[in-house]
Amino acid sequence: MSPRPSPADPTSAPPARRPRRTRASPPGAVAIGSLAMGSRGQQHPALGVGLWGLGRWEPDEERKTRAVAEHAAERGVPWFDTAEVYGAGRSERLLGDLLARWPEGRPRPFISTKLSWEHLRSAQVRASLIGSRRRLGVEAIDLYLVHAPDPRVPIRETMGALEALQKEGFVRALGVSNFSLEQLEAAEAALGEAEIVAHQVQFNLLEREEADPILDHCHRHRIVVEAYSPVARGLLAGRFLTGRGPSGPDRRRGHGVFAPEKFPEYRARARRIAELAEASGVPVLSLALHGLAREGAAPVFGASEPTQVDAALAAWAVRPSGKLLDRAVRLGRGEE
Ligand SMILES: NC(=O)c1ccc[n+]([C@@H]2O[C@H](COP(=O)([O-])OP(=O)(O)OC[C@H]3O[C@@H](n4cnc5c(N)ncnc54)[C@H](OP(=O)(O)O)[C@@H]3O)[C@@H](O)[C@H]2O)c1
Repeated sequence: MSPRPSPADPTSAPPARRPRRTRASPPGAVAIGSLAMGSRGQQHPALGVGLWGLGRWEPDEERKTRAVAEHAAERGVPWFDTAEVYGAGRSERLLGDLLARWPEGRPRPFISTKLSWEHLRSAQVRASLIGSRRRLGVEAIDLYLVHAPDPRVPIRETMGALEALQKEGFVRALGVSNFSLEQLEAAEAALGEAEIVAHQVQFNLLEREEADPILDHCHRHRIVVEAYSPVARGLLAGRFLTGRGPSGPDRRRGHGVFAPEKFPEYRARARRIAELAEASGVPVLSLALHGLAREGAAPVFGASEPTQVDAALAAWAVRPSGKLLDRAVRLGRGEE
């Protein structure tokens, strides 16, 4: 891999570019801003919406994800994240429908999609990418991520196939997701002229086990850290602060941040962050999203209702002070 220049201060996160509205932005659009991505002057939006739909792809849930995507487009969200595995292609397809109706003259959103961890063999990589392009209806995918590593497939094989596809013009940028630092470095070493410019990991103020080991490396190598589950699946939006967390058939029940052995501690920290937000007169979501941006990451939030998109954008429009964000980060870490 060709060496990439490091920022002057290797321990600091790269600064976000000033948010700007373009003339063609929809009325009332919130200024989002962008981050430098890779060594070739590419830009990555600072905030985006994910179309995983919490994995719920029954017809009614698909309708909700479609409504979220349409509303996010109307509100000018500049980045949509999807994957071939989301709804077995349905998420990419609904995004493709949206792009096909994109208003002329309005800047197209940045699209990231992902190669399934079950398709990491070189012939599968090509077939997957062609499928994603077809469903999305685009010539080239802005950012193509390896969704997760599979230790049974040498990463050299996958990255070699991806680099060839990038040379052919099918993808504009390459990235990975759910890789450890060691796996990320192996993926980088497997590339020739191409570079890894984004790494999508679970990262919120409460759950940062995947992010902490890779943050410094990513900042030094201009790899954008995309923070998934930035709202801790609702906990950092002020939900589940009392009671036992999600109930009934909710897929989150007992998992991740809601695992019974972890949840009481996470809930206590989330309450402290919510109290800080209230005392400071800012939405708790502002602390959740800007707290990640403060650490140089680009949050990709999920939503089941258009109003949650509005809430995220309203939260992004509020700019809490650095001091307040640092305090929220410490509370999330359990240091206060
Ligand atoms: N690379 C990967 O392996 C990976 C893994 C997971 C996610 N992702 C990406 O990251 C995106 C976001 O992930 P996520 O859905 O886990 O993230 P999240 O933003 O932490 O959680 C989204 C959920 O939080 C709740 N929520 C959000 N805003 C709210 C508000 N204002 N008020 C109340 N509740 C609110 C909603 O729950 P309800 O549904 O109950 O309303 C929503 O579905 C996904 O869509 C996907 O694109 C990637």
